[in-house]
Amino acid sequence: MERKWWHEAVVYEIYCKSFCDSDGDGIGDLRGVISKLPVLKELGINCIWFAPIYKSPQVDNGYDVADYQDIEPDYGTLEDFKELLDLAHSMGIRVIMDMVLNHSSDEHRWFQESRKSKDNPYRNYYIWQPPKADGSEPNNWGNYFRDGNGSAWEYDELTGEYYLHQYAKKMPDLNWEYEPLRKEVYKMLHWWLDFGVDGFRLDVFTRFKKPEGFPDTKKAPNVILDRNGFIMDNTMCLNVEGIHEILHELYTEVFGTRECMTVGEGAGVTSQNALGYVAKEREEIDMVYHFELSHRKLFSMTPEHFRKVQTEWADVFRHNGWAVQYMSNHDSARQVSVYGSDGIYRMPSAKLLATLIHTSPGTPFIYQGEEIGMVNVEFDDIKDHNCCYTVGDYNSMIQSGMSAEEALKIVGPRSRDNARTPYQWDASKHAGFTTGQPWMKLNPRYTEINLEADRKSEDSIFAYYQEMIKLRQTHPAIIEGDLRFLLEDHPQIIMYLRECEKETLLVIANYSNEKISLQLPEDIRSGKWQRVITNVKGTIPSVDGRDYLLPWETEVYSNTK
Ligand code: NOJ
Repeated sequence: MERKWWHEAVVYEIYCKSFCDSDGDGIGDLRGVISKLPVLKELGINCIWFAPIYKSPQVDNGYDVADYQDIEPDYGTLEDFKELLDLAHSMGIRVIMDMVLNHSSDEHRWFQESRKSKDNPYRNYYIWQPPKADGSEPNNWGNYFRDGNGSAWEYDELTGEYYLHQYAKKMPDLNWEYEPLRKEVYKMLHWWLDFGVDGFRLDVFTRFKKPEGFPDTKKAPNVILDRNGFIMDNTMCLNVEGIHEILHELYTEVFGTRECMTVGEGAGVTSQNALGYVAKEREEIDMVYHFELSHRKLFSMTPEHFRKVQTEWADVFRHNGWAVQYMSNHDSARQVSVYGSDGIYRMPSAKLLATLIHTSPGTPFIYQGEEIGMVNVEFDDIKDHNCCYTVGDYNSMIQSGMSAEEALKIVGPRSRDNARTPYQWDASKHAGFTTGQPWMKLNPRYTEINLEADRKSEDSIFAYYQEMIKLRQTHPAIIEGDLRFLLEDHPQIIMYLRECEKETLLVIANYSNEKISLQLPEDIRSGKWQRVITNVKGTIPSVDGRDYLLPWETEVYSNTK
């Protein structure tokens, strides 16, 4: 396979609003990011993915774009962004933009025009349908945010029609059937590439194509989450026939004509259909990330699940396509809280998760704060929450008769807000994130968990990430190696080989809070393999009279040929 820069990259996602505030208004901004580029360089990442930084009313923190070619004023200006981009490039860091092309904000100029009249030239940029004979919504689809009355259609009195919004009602879906819209999107993408960005993360790209005739969903209603009879069926516009034509055209008109990387957010992408999107000859997109390893609805992981998912996906991408490895992002709870342990084993478990991600086949994506083991937050009032999913779910639960306390207990641990509290830089007021009033409450554990404290600690998670990221440059098996699991039935230990021509790596992880006995293979005991990284000090298991792994211990060994 031809080697591209993103095969070797380590991507770092920045959620600008919560990263670093330079001007004291309580909102993270681009100048704040500029001031922290040296830290990211030290960490060793070489690509930044910016969650949307475009001008936006912020209903969904930027996933509601009001102008694709301007920067959200709270974050700065296009000039600031150009400076950031040039600086990042001079430091060897590439930058990709989050491209939200399934929908825009209703404040986008296109929508403002579209709603004016049925014969407005922009009318078909969006999806409009007449009411049913009784005046009701065109079908029973519910929106994913449980916004408004719950329907995925919003009535607009001005023209007497409904428009489709799979997400919030202020986020109307764009109409990919309409050529002038597609052409305008291509022009805009070229403009960003001319501006100097290195690629795009495509938001919910599997939902661009809608089913012919907008049929009712037949899914049974969920009494707690659906609203007013509108059914939140997340498969209603997923992988609909014709989606590949849309992506192929995007490729022939834009991606394939330029030097750029594309990674798709793969809602509904499975090991069965993934190659349809990312196989080279399909000419659609480069990489896709799936939700099968970790998802905000999965509250735990087991070695069995890890082995199953990784084996399945390694098979898919053995000769074609490329994987993304991650356990959390701005849409999930904090990985150390969900898949690790955020009590006394926070530090070793954060490192163990990093080891699994960075030594599995594919490109690792780090979410801000993960590298210092940031944990979930517990808010005791829904008013402290910001995420529309969380608030929508909460409201539906209250509507179905649940108490506020019960509802909060359910939505809290899986809330996207866990990932969105401001970055914890130090133990000073507001964790060094802002000198003003933060837009969102901080995690009160910031006095204990922050970058400064972490870097001073002998057990620094940040330092472990630095080491781990460096291994990617020096150990070819991390990028090229085939994946083979050992101890396939072990309930606590995850053990696998990554084998390539030049080297074999052995990864060992005790995925538990317990000490687990283990005899390492003779080769390791006899010293033929070199330990390249570990999260415990000193002793090598089975060599120094120790025939066990400590809780959350992880080790990586290399055998060069
Ligand atoms: C996926 C994004 O990651 C999420 O944050 C957003 O709410 C939805 N797409 C809608 O754009």
